[in-house]
Amino acid sequence: MPTQFPAGFLWGAATSAYQIEGAATLDGRGESVWDRFSHTPGKTYNGDTGDIAVDHYHRYGEDLDLMQRLGLQTYRFSIAWTRILPTGSGAVNQAGIDFYRRLVAGLLERNIRPMATLFHWDLPQALQERGGWEQRDTAQRFAQYADTLFRALGAEVELWLTLNEPKTVVEVGYTYGTHAPGIKDRTRAYTALHHMLLGHGLAVQAFRATLGSDGQIGAALNLSPAYPASDTAAAREAAQIMDSVENRLYLDPLLRGAYPDDLLDQIGATGLTSAVQPGDLAIIGAPIDLLGVNYYNPIYVEAGPSVVQSPHPYSAAFWQSIYPEGLYDLLLRIKHDYGDIPLYITENGAPFADSMAADGTINDIQRVQFLYDHFSAAQRAIAEGVNLKGYYVWSLLDNFEWAEGYAQRWGIVYIEYPSLKRTPKRSAHWYSDVIARHGLDERPEE
Ligand code: FCB
Repeated sequence: MPTQFPAGFLWGAATSAYQIEGAATLDGRGESVWDRFSHTPGKTYNGDTGDIAVDHYHRYGEDLDLMQRLGLQTYRFSIAWTRILPTGSGAVNQAGIDFYRRLVAGLLERNIRPMATLFHWDLPQALQERGGWEQRDTAQRFAQYADTLFRALGAEVELWLTLNEPKTVVEVGYTYGTHAPGIKDRTRAYTALHHMLLGHGLAVQAFRATLGSDGQIGAALNLSPAYPASDTAAAREAAQIMDSVENRLYLDPLLRGAYPDDLLDQIGATGLTSAVQPGDLAIIGAPIDLLGVNYYNPIYVEAGPSVVQSPHPYSAAFWQSIYPEGLYDLLLRIKHDYGDIPLYITENGAPFADSMAADGTINDIQRVQFLYDHFSAAQRAIAEGVNLKGYYVWSLLDNFEWAEGYAQRWGIVYIEYPSLKRTPKRSAHWYSDVIARHGLDERPEE
């Protein structure tokens, strides 16, 4: 069924610095925890690293032209802290600032609105060696780094995000240890969480002091609706607890200035409670202008609480089951529980086994259908009054998917390795039509 999106709704795509830039030692860039981690044997699929990635640092001009050809209205990228402050603090590396200035100028020339993320996991290794996010001081350093960018780019960039997915850092970086910094300790994970959120709050303070109301700032959270896996009271109760762990632990401090107290007892979050100092939650919960929602998958929960297999089909990522209705549920729930703060889908997408046919085309019909179904869910949420302002597909390009290396392809644009030639997939062409039409037509079937 044809549908329209509201006037002013923005269509975009997202990337992050370590996943695309490459040029890891160029122009004064310092080492980040992801350089260290990916260079540690056994940590990434095939030993892949972001040393070269898709060489966006050199090919950004070509990538800008590609975005323009697709008709993107906005582009979400992240800034590598170690290009700006190679050891996390101290003297500013002008070459780093200049790179992002050129990128932003190129976006504006093409009428594409930039959305800049300040922290997409690539903490300076020098700060990690001093305790990283487990140190309260790192929150201060983050705010100083953020302020450097507000001053350098604040006149051109209107949309800002402090943190990307603190939950992934907590769960994957500090609990399973399969992302940088590779720690397996839940107590330390929760200490790191509190300091990341404090860093967010201090960066928002710096933003208000430096830019006033010139621009909008928020954070991007990955949220997953939690459903009971069976129709039992125990499963329902377990889903509630899991919802707190997955969602409320991040939403409540940012949007209500409080941690979910009932939860803290149950998860034994001593690492968090011992880190909190008087006044912190007022800083963390100070008003933000927008909330970024990264939506990938629902979770199903049984008594325990434990996460069980989803009844829905999976993408090529072991953790991602495909359930567009989960996006609708999530958006309505945010409206219901947290009000009408402007929302952006800051990431949504999926990896599939894409391949290039003999004629050079990539027919990723599964991604087209995935996006169609999620856009429809978003549209229905908007029709119910959800204040959704824009949508960023993850990702513009195939790229370095963290521990999965280059094995998973998430882009709407195909990358041939090692030539790094870019070819828009069918999903990119289809997305371009959606943008031009500002809505959906029939769902493509095959
Ligand atoms: C999100 C990350 C993003 C990308 C996608 C697939 O968790 O924010 O960098 O890896 O998943």
